[in-house]
Amino acid sequence: MTGSAHPDLGRAVAACLHIDVPHVDIDAFPDGELHVQVDEHVHDAHVYLLQPTGPPVARHVLELMLLADACRRAGARHITAVIPYFGYARQDRRTQPGEAVGVRVIADMLTTVRLDGIVVVDPHVPTLEAISATSLTALTAVPTLAGALKHGLPRGSVLVAPDLGAVKLAERYASILDLPVAVVHKTRLSGTEVRARRVIGDVSERTPVIVDDMISTGATIAAAIRAVTAAGSRHDVLVAATHGLFCGAAADTLSDLGIRRLVVTDTLAPPEKQPPRIEVVSVASMLADAIEAHGHRLLGLRTTAHHGSPGLLKHR
Ligand code: R5P
Repeated sequence: MTGSAHPDLGRAVAACLHIDVPHVDIDAFPDGELHVQVDEHVHDAHVYLLQPTGPPVARHVLELMLLADACRRAGARHITAVIPYFGYARQDRRTQPGEAVGVRVIADMLTTVRLDGIVVVDPHVPTLEAISATSLTALTAVPTLAGALKHGLPRGSVLVAPDLGAVKLAERYASILDLPVAVVHKTRLSGTEVRARRVIGDVSERTPVIVDDMISTGATIAAAIRAVTAAGSRHDVLVAATHGLFCGAAADTLSDLGIRRLVVTDTLAPPEKQPPRIEVVSVASMLADAIEAHGHRLLGLRTTAHHGSPGLLKHR
């Protein structure tokens, strides 16, 4: 079942599994209150509810919760929320007095609709499982993205983490692509502004391959590109990220920066304005494999991945 956030991905996953996506009604009252209604066929079913919680984040979170509640009340046997992009995961701690810990609030809200499990892809906060009281399975799109980058990767490339938080991610790409890693020392000034101070590691005369879990405004990638080129890197930059939000003026921010390839996955629906030279690789087969394996575990059957995913299931 899919909410309104990304029905195309829901249909692609269902096609891999050779099943239909049941019809759901999602509308809003004149005051904006959401209303959902699910088909009676969910009675006794194992429901996988696919909804990335990207923009508009609050609406998509609430819609997911209403759909889960509707399924529960309609007699679903098991409900697993498949949340390819888990919004609010950047708010995992208070960096200034007076802030909320947003990810904890969202995780707690999701427990109130009594989900049996949550499946996510490359969550921003690696400790999401510890935060969530609901059993959580984290998948990673890194092998899929690294596989896409591999073709035509110039000799003498270097993996670049655009901030300290992306170092572990860059190391995962580096071990697949067999490349060295450099790190940009970034400071975030606001939701839309960042400052890159210096580059740690050798990027001189190398092609930078900048990787991140998500691209929102594009400010982090833009700052990283400026930092590595100032440090003497080649100008043909490759960029990869799991979640391409591309908010606001991201498409403009990312143009004219010498990006030769920009590879993201389809965890989120395409934004209104896409940046140039974007390539999208699908996580549908990976999600289908995870759902099938999970369904088989529920039924006590043995299973093997076979929808084309390179065995990415990762339990944390
Ligand atoms: C931050 O820690 C994340 O990993 C991303 O680097 C960040 O959220 C990207 O946001 P933006 O594209 O707005 O710089």
